[in-house]
Amino acid sequence: MVVTSMQHSDRFKDIQHLSQQQVKAALDQAIIQIDSNIDYFNETFPTPATKHNIYEKMPNTEWTTGFWTGILWLAYEYTHDEKYQKLALRQVDSFLKRIVAKDHVDHHDLGFLYTPSCVSAYKLLGSQQAYAASILAAEQLASRFQEKGGFIQAWGGAGAEDNYRLIIDALLNIPLLYWAGNEQHNKTYLEMADRHYKAAKETVIREDGSTYHTYYFDKLTGKPEKGVTRQGYSDDSSWARGQAWAIYGVPLHYRYRHSEDDIALFEKVTNYFIDKLPDDYVPYWDLIFSEQDKQPRDSSAGAIAVCGIAEMMKYLPESNANKQTYTNVMHALLSELITNYAADDKVPGETLLKHGVYSWHSGKGVDEGNLWGDYFYMEALMRFYKDWQLYW
Ligand code: GLY
Repeated sequence: MVVTSMQHSDRFKDIQHLSQQQVKAALDQAIIQIDSNIDYFNETFPTPATKHNIYEKMPNTEWTTGFWTGILWLAYEYTHDEKYQKLALRQVDSFLKRIVAKDHVDHHDLGFLYTPSCVSAYKLLGSQQAYAASILAAEQLASRFQEKGGFIQAWGGAGAEDNYRLIIDALLNIPLLYWAGNEQHNKTYLEMADRHYKAAKETVIREDGSTYHTYYFDKLTGKPEKGVTRQGYSDDSSWARGQAWAIYGVPLHYRYRHSEDDIALFEKVTNYFIDKLPDDYVPYWDLIFSEQDKQPRDSSAGAIAVCGIAEMMKYLPESNANKQTYTNVMHALLSELITNYAADDKVPGETLLKHGVYSWHSGKGVDEGNLWGDYFYMEALMRFYKDWQLYW
């Protein structure tokens, strides 16, 4: 595999690393906002993205609601305060009901939904409700596997010809299949996840380390057809969050499968991302942009990338020439998020992390907070705070 080397690593030479005190201060600030949001949302869930930085209330029907529960679990791990645990466990009941009723689960985002909300609850407390919910979610995810092409179909009715494609985001959904496959000694799940990963690796990741958002397959032959964007700027650009899903998805795959190729793949996608970062390190919502384009940033892509780099640093040998740069990048990026992107207004219902982009083409959540950005910001802080054990 050809790994394009980083072009602009010099600017990360003298990065001041975050101190434990700075990380703790950021977590304390996030906890104040989370407490305010607990009172505000009560038994409802926040919408995927904010309007004027405030989430609206909604039932447990979106692909993003698990991130709110995940934030509560992270708050519980940080504070050990049982109030977070109690509310999160009530939400686990809601997730169990949802998957039993198959309510709004006709898509591949089962990993995003059930890993931070329920696999977490099982790992932290041994909750059997959470275990049952997670296993059912994995079953639902597996039901979307397409033999022809060997991938999990993202959207639309399973097998629908006009939606016969995978999307890069699913790199964060397949850990649910690896987890469930290991728990249940279910080889089929492991094989499906392996085949999906291979299909994704061979299609959405381009030779130079940039990425397509989605990739279509021929339904009859299973042959890969074409890369097309949905949330990125154009078919041949690199949507920043898609790139970040790859930066985190590859180390998660390595964690389960120890595939040596993953190291070079990680370097390829991460080097491309790092080279496109602007002066303050937080990416524009698509990596095609530079300063003169005056486009909004996607802070959530930054937070996801920090988590992915932090995960891969556990496995990258000390002899790796880029290890120090990657470490510096994650410190620089998280430090910038803490200083200039974290909300400190403490308004009820407010986001933790401002300036994300959900979907530019449809005008949803543009230069707004979003729930996954908040979750991965908290996860990144927890990773810097302690030896955090993954939910993924
Ligand atoms: N997984 C959908 C998104 O990243 O917007």
